[in-house]
Amino acid sequence: MSTTSIEGYQLGRILIEGKTKKVYDLPDHPGLCLLLNKDRITAFDGLKAHELRGKAAISNTTNGLVFRLLNKAGIRTAFVDQCGEQAFIARKCQMIPIEWVTRRLATGSFIKLNPEVPEGYRFAPPKQETCFKDDASHDPLWCDEQIYASKFKLNGLVIGRDEVQLMRRTSLLVFEILERAWQTKNCTLVDMKVEFGVDDDGNILLADIIDSDTWRIWPAGEKRLMVDKTVYINLTAVTDSDLDQVKQNYSWVVDQLTSMVAPKDHLVVVLMGSASDTAHGLQIASRCRSLGLNVQLRVSCGFKDPEETLRILREYEATTGKLVFVTVAGRSNGLSSLLSGNTSCPVIDCLPLQSKSSLNLGYDLHPEAAALHTASILGLDNFMVWSKLRVKQLNNIIALKKADTDQRQVRDC
Ligand SMILES: Nc1ncnc2c1ncn2[C@@H]1O[C@H](COP(=O)(O)OP(=O)(O)OP(=O)(O)O)[C@@H](O)[C@H]1O
Ligand SMILES: [Mg+2]
Repeated sequence: MSTTSIEGYQLGRILIEGKTKKVYDLPDHPGLCLLLNKDRITAFDGLKAHELRGKAAISNTTNGLVFRLLNKAGIRTAFVDQCGEQAFIARKCQMIPIEWVTRRLATGSFIKLNPEVPEGYRFAPPKQETCFKDDASHDPLWCDEQIYASKFKLNGLVIGRDEVQLMRRTSLLVFEILERAWQTKNCTLVDMKVEFGVDDDGNILLADIIDSDTWRIWPAGEKRLMVDKTVYINLTAVTDSDLDQVKQNYSWVVDQLTSMVAPKDHLVVVLMGSASDTAHGLQIASRCRSLGLNVQLRVSCGFKDPEETLRILREYEATTGKLVFVTVAGRSNGLSSLLSGNTSCPVIDCLPLQSKSSLNLGYDLHPEAAALHTASILGLDNFMVWSKLRVKQLNNIIALKKADTDQRQVRDC
């Protein structure tokens, strides 16, 4: 009996069926599709393939956890939501037939092609490769010029230099985000591959899936402890107990991802010298929150009641792990000096705009800059704050590029 609906989503025709997934059209949801995972594991472009009961659900959970993390960080992805145990909803894309490989350590096909490089050699920055997706010729390595020359046109978008640059930067950032997330579990993300698609509106989105088939993970940085598809690839005779081991590894990865939450043990205290600074303080707070930071606003005048200001300082020092103070005070601005002279926590001075001419300590930060500065401090050991900051920087670059493209199209008459 064929499935006609999943979790209330009526399935349309199969748009494409691959080795490990079926993609269904969703007639009631234009612009979206449903990807159904299979209980199947394959290697060597499908030459080696086995049924693996439970794999579809494990892959689906892994992918859901990874893409939710990336979406939260602000990466533009096709992933919308999980849908039942084995499927998820995604933006319907025309896929760009290129695999983007990012490597931190040399292993696998890299050392086969470059035997002079020792296994485990650390690429800094990570090494990026592009492969043309073609099982028949074993996904050959391609250079940028081969991609430009192909003039891939997907949903009206021609893949040229700018598009390649966007995908290269995004795949590097995706790697770096997941690498940091895995570091919290003392695991090394060795390498991974991602794919991109173009949605109906012509946007390039990170698409396809990321699961234990698409990356290498070495717990404690040790190859012998690997928990990814390489274990299956290396099997010569494949027994039931071998397949069980592969499944156990994949489930272990799900457990790690489930508990991979960004630490909450920090606080940004926006300390204002007067209630009249509230609007400015709120601007700082909302920018901090959009970068994933916990914020508390307080009012205390270091000039009128220094004892109370210091009491507040000591209270936070005694109760919160990582603290950053952002001080907002006009006039003589004694608040910043009172705080910075009495604590080892970072104190960032962000004057209300109308007080620019008052005595300040040499800093003159806009609320946005104060929030970015705060995030760069707290992001040092918080992978989500770090990721949001880096995605923001990437989005700035993308916006600049777009502005440049728009200008290039405008010609003087
Ligand atoms: N959001 C999406 N919209 C449309 N198609 C998608 C999306 N995400 C992934 N796909 C496509 O779904 C197809 C099926 O996936 P599967 O991974 O099973 O294919 P495959 O046999 O591995 O082939 P390939 O080598 O192309 O990945 C792939 O062609 C993939 O590019
Ligand atoms: Mg695939």
